[in-house]
Amino acid sequence: DRDELAALVDGLLRTVPDFPEPGVQFRDIMPLLADADAFARVVAAFADHAHGPVDLVAGMEARGFLLASPVATALGAGVVPVRKAGKLPGPVVSQSYALEYGSAAVEVQPFTIPDGARVLVIDDVLATGGTAAATVELLESCGATVVGLSFLVELQALGGRALLPGRHVDTLLTLP
Ligand code: PRP
Repeated sequence: DRDELAALVDGLLRTVPDFPEPGVQFRDIMPLLADADAFARVVAAFADHAHGPVDLVAGMEARGFLLASPVATALGAGVVPVRKAGKLPGPVVSQSYALEYGSAAVEVQPFTIPDGARVLVIDDVLATGGTAAATVELLESCGATVVGLSFLVELQALGGRALLPGRHVDTLLTLP
């Protein structure tokens, strides 16, 4: 059940202080990915939580790719990599978003997203929500319908959910 799954994720998550920079508590999901049974259960849970039919699963660079791909296969859907600016050959569409200092942008290739495609968005961590909100805007500007977003871990204190009003947002583990 959900509590059991949350405990499983919690037990396999490493919290690394001051990475990649001082003051940041990095949530490292690699031990979970390396555990065959845990990884399979997490992928099955993501697939289970999908709200209705899904045509494409979008994963955010880089750890989102690792989760989105097996979930897509489980759902019989395709994959859309949501990449950081400058990584995909064009034509691309971009969506920029604010960071604490400066800004960043995410990109997709619009020709991989059929009009009206139902897209599930998957990433490892929901923190400030900037990446996820930009991803939703980006996909919908391409004519997709974002049917929901799923994260392994939500860092509640950073308030990311507030940037996703009216969306189905599922998280396997919520940390205060
Ligand atoms: C992390 C994480 C999310 C994003 C969440 O990615 O994987 O994509 O930050 O943060 P936000 O909610 O504040 O936007 P990161 O930028 O570390 O990319 P990486 O996976 O390529 O290292």
